[in-house]
Amino acid sequence: MSNKKYQSQVELLRKQINHHNFQYYILDDPELPDTEYDRLLKELQDIEKAHPELITPDSPTQRVGAKPLKHFSEIKHEVPMLSLGNAFNEKELRDFDRRILDKLEVDHVEYVAEPKLDGLAVTIMYRDGIMNYAATRGDGSTGEDVTQNIRTVKTVPLKLSGNGWPKLLEVRGEVFISHKGFKLLNDSQRKKDEKTFANPRNAAAGSLRQLDSRITATRPLEIIFYGLGKVVGNNLSLSHFETLKKLKTWGLRISPEARLLKDVQGCLDYYKKMLKTRDSLPYEIDGVVYKVNHYNLQKKMGQVARAPRWAIAHKFPAVEEMTRLLSIDVQVGRTGKITPVARLEPVTVAGVTVSNATLHNQDEIDRKDVRIGDMVIVRRAGDVIPEVVSAIKSERKKGARKYKMPTSCPDCGSAIIKPEDEAHARCSGGLYCSAQRVEAIKHFASRRAMDIEGLGDKLVEQLDETGLIQDVSDLFGLTQIQLSELDRMGEKSANNILLALEKTKSTTLDRFVFALGIRQVGEATASALAGHFGTLDKIMAADQDDLIAVPDVGPVVAENIKQFFRDKHNKYVVRKLIKAGIHWPVNSVKITNQKLRDKTFVLTGTLASMSRENAKSRLKACGAKVSSSVSKKTDYVVAGENPGTKVSKAEALGVKIINEKTLEKMLVE
Ligand code: IVH
Repeated sequence: MSNKKYQSQVELLRKQINHHNFQYYILDDPELPDTEYDRLLKELQDIEKAHPELITPDSPTQRVGAKPLKHFSEIKHEVPMLSLGNAFNEKELRDFDRRILDKLEVDHVEYVAEPKLDGLAVTIMYRDGIMNYAATRGDGSTGEDVTQNIRTVKTVPLKLSGNGWPKLLEVRGEVFISHKGFKLLNDSQRKKDEKTFANPRNAAAGSLRQLDSRITATRPLEIIFYGLGKVVGNNLSLSHFETLKKLKTWGLRISPEARLLKDVQGCLDYYKKMLKTRDSLPYEIDGVVYKVNHYNLQKKMGQVARAPRWAIAHKFPAVEEMTRLLSIDVQVGRTGKITPVARLEPVTVAGVTVSNATLHNQDEIDRKDVRIGDMVIVRRAGDVIPEVVSAIKSERKKGARKYKMPTSCPDCGSAIIKPEDEAHARCSGGLYCSAQRVEAIKHFASRRAMDIEGLGDKLVEQLDETGLIQDVSDLFGLTQIQLSELDRMGEKSANNILLALEKTKSTTLDRFVFALGIRQVGEATASALAGHFGTLDKIMAADQDDLIAVPDVGPVVAENIKQFFRDKHNKYVVRKLIKAGIHWPVNSVKITNQKLRDKTFVLTGTLASMSRENAKSRLKACGAKVSSSVSKKTDYVVAGENPGTKVSKAEALGVKIINEKTLEKMLVE
């Protein structure tokens, strides 16, 4: 190929990759499976490697980080980066609104509300649609040049999409790390024996302020844009809300929670709603921000000191509080994992009373130097388990004691062992340990596993204490008399439990494999195993090589699966469960159901009876293909609840749309 040909090839690939980035990050509607996307990127990388002269700074390959810097240079903000005043209650918010109404001489004013993300502010300059530089807020008038680092953030476009952007466009947003990213990052830091971060904000700040951008590139940083700096060229819009919509079309991610509100009452309602939604958001927010929508009104309001008079942050209750650490116990998990748990003087954190919090493991306790009797900082954010973040050493009393993990399991007395290469200690008692047994049974009964209605944690503990069950298979031998003799259990509840047990006997292979509680076999892996092997016997008989052939299964997980089914007791329990009548309909599908062979399916929306992974692997087991985008080649679009734009696309192309029930029927035919 001539260089010219490569040039057009490279341009085409970049266009395709940018398009898929937009679908993925901005519209949240990927058209390609990850593997296909990776293939495109790899193709581009290969060409650029062979022809380095074709590399441009806005190429999607240029996100891996550059040579470390000695220090950051300074960048002056032509338009200062302001901060916000705070309102801590309804009165303070109404006062803010009153000041605006009085000054503008109107009786109500429109606001835009957005979540207040808890990260750090950055400003990014685009020149002719290409990212030019990025800087931190600094003191508001001068910040640090973090261009190299910001380039590695996947949600930051290196080149704007769409059209109509001004010649110079400076956009401002918050860089942050999601709850999930934070957990993964800290887990990985722990594994590498490196310092963990106290909260997602610190993790984001630490990652952005790395002199070595190759390190930043490995950190799960994200960005959401919320405003403008300097703009030269096209006149943008007349209001903030219109601007946000425009930014989105240019591939700049804005908050999906941004709303246009009529007046201050709308703000108060929004606040209440977000307070409820807060725990289920994938990232941390510490309040909401209201901004007067129209730019001409913003201008009339002006600013005081370093904060605008037209915007305010309405703060939420803090997610970190201080309390006393009374003692430390250890908890034994389903697979024997030992976790030290802090018993705390009860404290309300973000609206919930917390009296227990995790301390992760002995190394973490040592590293943080947390001692019994200390005042500690506890954090509860999102639906993450509360944790002890640090000890307040300046307030340490003389009697504060260091903690040492017991050497034997408090439950069964077996030795506690800690493999060199693992962060956690484990009880070596296996199913002899009643704590592990109880946890295994709780897991088996849980909603995402066998979903045995009414069989909650308390009841499982009672059944274990009274000796009525030794393992999960004993559940199916329980009688009404045995059950109704338990505390707080009437005849009716006993009957309901028996009915629920009967109902769960008819299940799927995915659920069953997940319910067994094999170490590191979560729902997705269980689905993959069921889809790949089709029958339980085959899974049980699989050797290391067979197992590694399953997507999602590596050597460690393969070893866990093999070990699980090698164990005599486990084999006995599985046999007893099958004998008790547990069955699933799909094991014959792999061989007999030929109708779906080579048919292409697209899944959209939430499926009620199975996870997407589960549906995918079951379809694949029948020889069907599952694609992430609708095209003329699609045979069926399966529409679950709240389906996306894929349904209208299917309608437009005349592709058949089916519901979950029909899919289930097709799968078992
Ligand atoms: S607007 C002139 N909007 O909060 C307005 N700020 O306390 C300046 N922040 O430095 C900021 N989410 O880092 C705005 N939706 C949002 C925000 C937001 C988070 C941060 C930002 C700013 C700080 C002000």
